Amino acid sequence: VIIFVIGGPGSGKGTQCERLAAKYQFQHLGLGSLLRAEASQPTRQGRQIKDIMMKGALVPSGFVLALLNNKLWQRSFLVNGFPRQLKQAKDFERVVGRPPNIVIVLDCSTETMIQRLLLRGQTGHRADDHEACIRQRLETHYSLCEPVISYYQQQNLLRNILGEEPEDAIYTKCCFVIDSLV
Ligand code: AP5
Repeated sequence: VIIFVIGGPGSGKGTQCERLAAKYQFQHLGLGSLLRAEASQPTRQGRQIKDIMMKGALVPSGFVLALLNNKLWQRSFLVNGFPRQLKQAKDFERVVGRPPNIVIVLDCSTETMIQRLLLRGQTGHRADDHEACIRQRLETHYSLCEPVISYYQQQNLLRNILGEEPEDAIYTKCCFVIDSLV
């Protein structure tokens, strides 16, 4: 089973994927976390990735695909934060040989996402949780992600879930969607 979980910055992808992966014993691949690990390397490539992430832009698709492909070693997996552009969706199918079983989209208003990330930014956990970078991440999301959503909608793979609700309510809805598959 291959499940993609997408949505804007702060829509709750990471929070939900952690719980879902534990419940269903899926391998959880968070692209943001994998890329932060790469960005922390004291190499030229690490610095380049860090610069891109701090600008709220996307790391080049070829690198992201290679990183992901190297980690696909379980039978079932949840991929959080991928694909973020149409090219990634198509490259995945080319490399892995098939599309995902479903794509869960967490729908959240811009205001909610900004408030959540500013709040998290106060704890200093994430260097990209400051206002300028949050706005750029949102801009990247809105400009590049729409075609991805239409693409999966056309294939009837999209499952929209309202990401504004409390965490437990969203989790219950995600479980309902996954239960229909496994
Ligand atoms: P990534 O780490 O994926 O960041 P993001 O997409 O900006 O999303 P976040 O991790 O900030 O939020 P989330 O939706 O996971 O929400 P979370 O559960 O954390 O990516 C970082 C960067 O890496 C990108 O900007 C890009 O540069 C690069 N990158 C990543 N993927 C890439 C790709 N495929 N291609 C190229 N580049 C890529 O929750 C956020 C906060 O809200 C938390 O504090 C949480 O406690 C709170 N919260 C969650 N749910 C709720 C709720 N229901 N109610 C109230 N609060 C909630």
